[in-house]
Amino acid sequence: MVYNMAGSTIGNKFSITTWGESHGKALGVVVDGCPAGLTLDENDIQIYLDRRKPGFSQFSTPRKESDKVEILSGIFEGRTTGTPISMIVHNTSQRSSDYGDIATYYRPGHADYTFDEKYGFRDYRGGGRSSGRETIGRVAAGAIAAKILKQLGIEITTYVSSIGDVQVSPENFNREYIMQNELYMPDKDSYERASALLSDIMAANDSIGSSVQCIIKGMPAGIGEPVFDKLDANLAKAIMSIGAVKAIEIGDGCMVSENQGSYNNDNFSMKDGKVSKQSNHAGGILGGMSDGSDIVIKAHFKPTPSIASTQHTINKSGENIEVSIKGRHDPIIGPRAVVVVESMAAITVLDLLFDNMSSRLDKIIDFYS
Ligand SMILES: Cc1cc2nc3c(=O)[nH]c(=O)nc-3n(C[C@H](O)[C@H](O)[C@H](O)COP(=O)(O)O)c2cc1C
Repeated sequence: MVYNMAGSTIGNKFSITTWGESHGKALGVVVDGCPAGLTLDENDIQIYLDRRKPGFSQFSTPRKESDKVEILSGIFEGRTTGTPISMIVHNTSQRSSDYGDIATYYRPGHADYTFDEKYGFRDYRGGGRSSGRETIGRVAAGAIAAKILKQLGIEITTYVSSIGDVQVSPENFNREYIMQNELYMPDKDSYERASALLSDIMAANDSIGSSVQCIIKGMPAGIGEPVFDKLDANLAKAIMSIGAVKAIEIGDGCMVSENQGSYNNDNFSMKDGKVSKQSNHAGGILGGMSDGSDIVIKAHFKPTPSIASTQHTINKSGENIEVSIKGRHDPIIGPRAVVVVESMAAITVLDLLFDNMSSRLDKIIDFYS
């Protein structure tokens, strides 16, 4: 594993390096470790990028970002060549004037203060590297990982599972509905209640937290390395690295500390000659390895830090000031981050699937004979 000082790279065999700032010329990603022979074009990537694009919902920043991707390398005659795939998205909706003020003070809840302390100065335009736009590179890479996973029979479903105190109800779950509403919720009733809540929040110049649920179906058992590269440990790192994620749960998550073993243990049984589990409190992971059932992940997002209501902070001269943050900000992060969580999950499981290929001598002998 390469020690990467700026922390912009993740993954071992399938690795991605994101680059670029919110208001720089462009953002992008270099994907290394994609096998040769995958049919791939810009449309495969664009479908994913369009899911994180702002400006098309009453509940996201009004910035209109076209976010058109261009593939610069690693493809020949429509197929991946096995060499690094570099992708770029040019920034077209920069309005750095919106951010002139924040050059002089520290936004509560944002990364301004910590960037200044670490580097001595910062690219304050749109938050630089700490902007939600950094996730463009993750999503472009995630589209490739998801396309490979699909060929292995592994599919990921991701949606907003709560906004404030509005929780989606499992009884009303409708997978098709996720892509039919701007909050990416799987339940019409919850969508309507969350919309009303968000309208009130926006009218009050405030923001609100949310959670995103991600379910990975079709994972074979045994994927994940037993100690430091456990599947749940790597998922936690990948998903916690998304801006504003403050907690991640696997399966029953935080509830396990309240439950008893007789309830929490998933009993095994044989079904049609195959090992199966009678429940899935473990969220599909035992001992850091997939157990063959659905992998169930929940990411908790804090409320968007940049809000227009009045807050107390300090400026760079150390004076106490009051601020009301201008600019075009998302009042909620979860809906825009659904595809980001899905991408980080796809990148992580694919990387561990590749790692797993050298875990058994009998399989290596089979492969080479
Ligand atoms: C997709 C996405 C969009 C975001 N949009 C905004 C935004 O419009 N305004 C804002 O202040 N923060 C936004 N954030 C959150 C900040 O990036 C994040 O809170 C900040 O980097 C501080 O990091 P931390 O919350 O992990 O401590 C967004 C994050 C994501 C993932």
